[in-house]
Amino acid sequence: MLVSAKEMLQKAKAGHYAVGQFNINNLEWTKAILLTAQELNSPVILGVSEGAGKYMCGYTTVVGMVNGMIKELGITVPVALHLDHGSYEGCYKCIEAGFSSVMFDGSHYPIDENVAKTSELVKLCNEKGLSLEAEVGSIGGEEDGVIGGGEVADPDECKMIADLGVTMLAAGIGNIHGKYPANWGGLRFDALEAISNKTGDMPLVLHGGTGIPEDMIKKAISLGVSKINVNTECQLAFAAATREYVEAGKDLQGKGFDPRKLLAPGSEAIKATVREKITLFGSANKA
Ligand code: 13P
Repeated sequence: MLVSAKEMLQKAKAGHYAVGQFNINNLEWTKAILLTAQELNSPVILGVSEGAGKYMCGYTTVVGMVNGMIKELGITVPVALHLDHGSYEGCYKCIEAGFSSVMFDGSHYPIDENVAKTSELVKLCNEKGLSLEAEVGSIGGEEDGVIGGGEVADPDECKMIADLGVTMLAAGIGNIHGKYPANWGGLRFDALEAISNKTGDMPLVLHGGTGIPEDMIKKAISLGVSKINVNTECQLAFAAATREYVEAGKDLQGKGFDPRKLLAPGSEAIKATVREKITLFGSANKA
């Protein structure tokens, strides 16, 4: 059964570790992430962007696939199915379809409108027992056509949104979606500390987990980050392993073209990436 992310993130905040949100794109992704979380006895959050939701035929299909896998793979660790960077309309659709968690990305609205829309969603999510992530200060880079300017969130605005009763808060601290450019200045720990001081027990979310050096991840967790989103790194690992298989001519040997063989190295590469992140984030054996 899917669960809200509330309990797992409150435990993570109190225990000084972070739960990984790994974005899914299809059956192989979902299966690889669920099996790895189970193997490491870790809670896990499956992230679905609006674009990935559309690609997988729609939110109802995603809910059906994930619920079916939890049952048929015998997954017993806590799993939250979460809309990533949702629009206001997207949140309503996912709540209706059976997601257990949503992110309302109102960072591009003026703060008053972000507050009004977030408040409405807080009420609905509370009624239905879902967790809700809000965002203040957009995340840099591009994701599904949404381009963020990489701002650093204002601690007072963070407190205002946190006080509305959201479950977790994503705050821009110089993080970027996708690969980090060579001239990236690193995470703004001064900003993270100020936000953490203002928002108290609120679990903070670090987007753009791909490519952040290990020491920065550990420091971010020590300053209150309890959820870390990873997407691109699994895509890169999957693509590299698939490329290696094809370039070695393995798809031309025997039944190497069978998708169950062709996609296997990529799936194993996703598992290795997820294993590495869960271990780094410290959520293994915290299910
Ligand atoms: P990356 O693709 O950089 O790992 O970011 C993922 C993310 O933040 C999803 O919201």
